[in-house]
Amino acid sequence: MRGDNQSFTFGFILLGVSGEQQQEDFFFVLFLFIYPITLIGNLLIILAIHSDIRLHNPMYFFLANLSFVDILFSSVTIPKMLANHVLGSKAISFGGCLTQMCFILALGNTDSYMLAAMAYDRAVAISRPLHYTTIIRPWTCVLLVVGSWVVGNANALPHTLLTAGLSFCGNKEVANFYCDIASLLKLSCSDTYFNVKMMYLGAGVFSVPLLCIIFSYVQVFSTVLRVPSTKGVLKAFSTCGSHLTVVSLYYGTVMGMYFRPLSSYSLKDAVITVMYMAVTPMLNPFIYSLRNRDMKAALGKLFSKRLSS
Ligand SMILES: *[C@@H]1O[C@H](CO)[C@@H](O)[C@H](O)[C@H]1NC(C)=O
Repeated sequence: MRGDNQSFTFGFILLGVSGEQQQEDFFFVLFLFIYPITLIGNLLIILAIHSDIRLHNPMYFFLANLSFVDILFSSVTIPKMLANHVLGSKAISFGGCLTQMCFILALGNTDSYMLAAMAYDRAVAISRPLHYTTIIRPWTCVLLVVGSWVVGNANALPHTLLTAGLSFCGNKEVANFYCDIASLLKLSCSDTYFNVKMMYLGAGVFSVPLLCIIFSYVQVFSTVLRVPSTKGVLKAFSTCGSHLTVVSLYYGTVMGMYFRPLSSYSLKDAVITVMYMAVTPMLNPFIYSLRNRDMKAALGKLFSKRLSS
């Protein structure tokens, strides 16, 4: 078995998205496109929001924070995948693997809680417009942002420490393009009963924001439908529709991935993870901004300022 090879004793092998060379080349090219688009798109959002005083309000601060998390999130996995492909290597050190896993869990959870904060903010704005400024105060926003980071990290560190305590004796081949907790647990030769239970708990904590998002949207839709103006309904559906699509893709893939027995994990699941690992962070800036007039104006100003200076 390759895993028994001495040189791999202190590291893991990342098998990739599919494990087959031709498909790996395809995903390499795909990620080579996705990554710069993710970086530039999210960076532009942050710059545009900070440079336009009209966008200095909770909704856009959440968006800027989400973009920041998305930049970090995709930078944890994609550069390593690209570098390994170029270098013709599949190796990752034990420490590197655990660090990557910890960051993915922390940032993924933070992302999830921020999406909920954004949905809550919109629900208040649409269903209780008169109370908006008293409910969503500046410190409420800071609290929601800081809270997202705290919960994110709190739902990452225990899993990382628990995984660090496991023994890996035989096979070191991680059936994914990054160090994924489920794939690592499956590889361990220790008893992972407790780790797996904790992973399900973690997936539950990750999914709590989904309930908040659904609840927020129920409020939004019930408010919009109570005042039956076709224009208002269409507007609400067009702004929330794309958001809902991304949210369902995100939670759908994560829940489909982690709410099931370890024995059913295989390499083909890595293709599913591409969705939330790479595609959602790239789509977020487009979904939240390109259909938004204020955001487009701010981006336009950002460019004309750069061009004239
Ligand atoms: C995140 O939000 C806080 C306020 O809620 C804001 O002060 C900060 O600038 C935001 N971060 C980014 C990267 O925009």
